[in-house]
Amino acid sequence: MPAASETFRVRPMTIDDYPAVYALWVSTPGVGVDETDERDPTARFLERNPGLSLVAADSDQQIVAAVLCGHDGRRGYLSHLAVDERARGVGLGRRLVAECLAALAGQGVGKCNVRIFAENEAAARFWERMGYARRADLAVWQRTTSS
Ligand SMILES: CC(C)(COP(=O)(O)OP(=O)(O)OC[C@H]1O[C@@H](n2cnc3c(N)ncnc32)[C@H](O)[C@@H]1OP(=O)(O)O)[C@@H](O)C(=O)NCCC(=O)NCCS
Repeated sequence: MPAASETFRVRPMTIDDYPAVYALWVSTPGVGVDETDERDPTARFLERNPGLSLVAADSDQQIVAAVLCGHDGRRGYLSHLAVDERARGVGLGRRLVAECLAALAGQGVGKCNVRIFAENEAAARFWERMGYARRADLAVWQRTTSS
């Protein structure tokens, strides 16, 4: 497994990465996985946002970090950022976020949202370090599309 000094290769996520990425998500506290994270919706998301979602792999080609990144033409969205515990603290999360923001900016998208669980204080501190500010005036509402 990765050592702190190891260099990681960051590249776009493909659907072939899905089993490893999904395994990382479900083993990472702070990442909430539901039916929208199954293979087909994830493949659709990657197709609609080509090249934006990223993975990082170690020298054994094992995936140690991932993030979903997309936009709707107006705003960007990052979700499911996860760094394997053994690869944390060496700047990988920052690097993935920076590459995503640069790619969004390159496509003319001026703002990027992220949703985190309200009780995930560690993630809140990380996103603050990434320059994010909590929108205390907003709350997320949701329902299923079928009745
Ligand atoms: C949050 C997470 C992605 C950080 O990844 P990481 O690769 O360890 O982060 P980095 O090493 O790039 O750290 C970047 C900066 O954030 C800070 N940071 C990272 N984790 C932090 C924490 N738990 N508390 C406070 N600051 C933190 C680092 O000190 C660093 O600061 P600096 O560069 O300004 O000195 C990782 O801990 C993780 O996967 N957590 C669980 C999943 C999760 O909660 N994801 C967010 C939901 S979208």
